[in-house]
Amino acid sequence: MVNETFTSNISKSWMREALTARGDEQRKLHQRAADIRDKTVSRAVYFRGLIEFSNKCINDCLYCGIRKSNNAVKRYMMDKEEILDAVEFCERAGYGSVVLQSGEQKNKKFTGLISSIVGDIKKKFPKISITLCVGEQEKSVYQEFFDSGAERYLLRIETSNAEHYKKLHPKEMSFSERYRCLNDLKNIGFQVGTGVMVNAPSQTLDMLAEDILFFREIDADMIGMGPYIPHSKTPLYITIINKTESLNLTLNMIALTRIMMPDVNIAATTALQALHPKGRELGLLSGANVIMPLVTPIHYRNNYVLYDDKPCRNESSLQCANCVTERIYAIDLVPKHRVTGDSLHYINRITSHHVNEGKGVDNDS
Ligand code: 5AD
Ligand code: FES
Repeated sequence: MVNETFTSNISKSWMREALTARGDEQRKLHQRAADIRDKTVSRAVYFRGLIEFSNKCINDCLYCGIRKSNNAVKRYMMDKEEILDAVEFCERAGYGSVVLQSGEQKNKKFTGLISSIVGDIKKKFPKISITLCVGEQEKSVYQEFFDSGAERYLLRIETSNAEHYKKLHPKEMSFSERYRCLNDLKNIGFQVGTGVMVNAPSQTLDMLAEDILFFREIDADMIGMGPYIPHSKTPLYITIINKTESLNLTLNMIALTRIMMPDVNIAATTALQALHPKGRELGLLSGANVIMPLVTPIHYRNNYVLYDDKPCRNESSLQCANCVTERIYAIDLVPKHRVTGDSLHYINRITSHHVNEGKGVDNDS
């Protein structure tokens, strides 16, 4: 359960207030989060080259553009060479980590191929840290990925409320299974990232507050949160969304997460930029410290569209590399190339020096 001391120090109503802050209050909230980021994990921004290597998916999430029922999508799977070329690009661009992301497949051919690619990347590019984002798998498969050399794993919980989870997913999928996955990943020794979509259908402010408490409860090392953006070929599609509301809520979620989890890595996600031309910069100014430029070859980009108006669909990896670096300089933060940028929370966790607000020294993880 969520730590009692902590929840009594920071009340839910305080969290709700922070999430709804606008105007001056909001500026103060973001500044406080940015100050904590600067003091705790510095003004460095780390890069993760995102390789969307396959859009084949066995799942049918009600919000996702590459759900299996979307027949309008041309399915692809990059081969090993193409993936290694993309990783080589990341090395040249100075990205500290590559994220291999795909739709979900559980068959041995798929998972075995991932392990083999991870092994090859480790051999050819030993300085690059490998992050996987390939969905729910058996513990033995996660172990195989880890043993092949993958260090990090991203699996968003999407929502920490089991009833809400049911509203966003088909009946074959469950909150408890996803939770099991996060636990297994943690126990195996991965640096674990999770997160939620913000302003998703049926989501309440209380749920968002509980999401942050959930991140703390599972002791996540990395957080990735983006606004929910309707995709026209999905069951949850609605024509009009309040973009300003989604943007503000996502930025406040980032700020509040930084305040409550000072030493984690938090991504300024690309989805923010679908709502505002400077969405990712705003994410960084609200306390985020990681950026994930796309490294997917340009001819696949239009087939990996999880939400409408996805940015960078017609840009090359090189254009994105230059673009993000300029954006970081423009807001006076420090683009940090050629370092893996491990989550400080993870480093603290494995060296057992972990101090949390209201929690005292945490030696039990
Ligand atoms: N809007 C915003 N984010 C989405 N994702 C999937 N579909 C959407 C959407 N319509 C996010 C999910 C998933 C991540 C890879 O992309 O949170 O975990
Ligand atoms: Fe892709 Fe700016 S990051 S075009």
